[in-house]
Amino acid sequence: MKKKVGIVGYGGMGQWHACSITGTTYLESIPFEESDVAEVAGVYDIDPEKRSKAQADGYAVYPSLNALLAVPEIDIIVVATPNDVHESIAVQAMEAGKHVIVEKPVTMSCEALDAMIAAAEKNGKKFSVHQNRRFDDYFVAMKQLADEGTIGDIISIESRIHGDHGVPGDWRKTVEQGGGMLYDWGVHMLDQQLWMLGYDVDRVYARFDYLTGIPVDDGCFVDVYLKSGKVLHTEICTYNFIPLPMMYMRGRTGTALFGTWGDDVQVVRCTEWGDHDNILPVKAAAGLTKTMAPRTGRSMEQLSIKLPKTDVHDYYRNFCAAIDSKEDLLVNHQQMRVVMQVIMAAFESAKTGTVVKL
Ligand SMILES: NC(=O)c1ccc[n+]([C@@H]2O[C@H](COP(=O)([O-])OP(=O)(O)OC[C@H]3O[C@@H](n4cnc5c(N)ncnc54)[C@H](O)[C@@H]3O)[C@@H](O)[C@H]2O)c1
Repeated sequence: MKKKVGIVGYGGMGQWHACSITGTTYLESIPFEESDVAEVAGVYDIDPEKRSKAQADGYAVYPSLNALLAVPEIDIIVVATPNDVHESIAVQAMEAGKHVIVEKPVTMSCEALDAMIAAAEKNGKKFSVHQNRRFDDYFVAMKQLADEGTIGDIISIESRIHGDHGVPGDWRKTVEQGGGMLYDWGVHMLDQQLWMLGYDVDRVYARFDYLTGIPVDDGCFVDVYLKSGKVLHTEICTYNFIPLPMMYMRGRTGTALFGTWGDDVQVVRCTEWGDHDNILPVKAAAGLTKTMAPRTGRSMEQLSIKLPKTDVHDYYRNFCAAIDSKEDLLVNHQQMRVVMQVIMAAFESAKTGTVVKL
């Protein structure tokens, strides 16, 4: 039987959840297939206009959070509100006996996250954060390369998203409601890279952009150093009119590059490291270089990897299977906590200009 979902917050992402579950086209351009594990059983939004919109879209709408939480059939509450109220709504929902999926970022401090985890444990409820970008096709392709050792042991990843519109909307521009790009995209990119390379974080260094005159970061650059020696670079910019490639990964035996949405992943593998003989210098601007002359094709191999087909429903499938004790949570409490710690360390680093040890 499908699990019944109550959605709190019927803005952009609340509507995305509703469309993805019911198989409705989102914003007239993103088609979804109906979920095989979940159905929408009710909606609450603090804004009466959003409640009217939900009603017009055909959902059962409740006049208060308490009224939604009082519906006994509802199994799962999805929290899709601005970030500052994630904690209170999630805790209230778990106290009311519901399992909870919270939109990212799960909340805005490690203490708040601990309170949410404690509520889940106390009430025996499943609780996770919606890290849907673990299903991004290019990320899945990159992770597969890393897992299969196609370019050897991974040394570093650089993950970027560059836009040129500044920070959108209203609450995303405020400190109080958890705006800024680190909380917005950064939390996804950190989650992806830590999931790929491990959670053994040693230290964090970050700097922020404040280019558009708002009080939150409209760009951020975060370096995470793992105890294993691997380095993760995360970069989100909203003021870049020429974007850099989205993911660049160096391994011991090769390099992988993902340019932009829909591209194939490009891989170059070194087939004979010691092939340094007979390198001819190349003209390099006002000089020559032998050091930076490209390898000949003799000792490298190029691959172009098509993006895999991924399915966002897998997130709900896992969450529902976890409720039925058939699977472990894909995004578990420990992982959420390390991501939160890194975010807190990044804020501190950007403020103090120092490297922050975890
Ligand atoms: N996972 C993703 O891909 C993704 C994408 C976009 C946004 N998000 C996250 O989703 C959440 C919502 O973002 P959004 O873009 O939908 O914002 P939004 O402003 O479009 O929608 C938020 C909605 O929450 C409602 N709301 C505010 N306070 C409330 C409360 N106390 N109780 C009930 N409803 C309340 C607002 O009226 C609004 O309708 C944020 O945490 C954001 O980071 C995730």
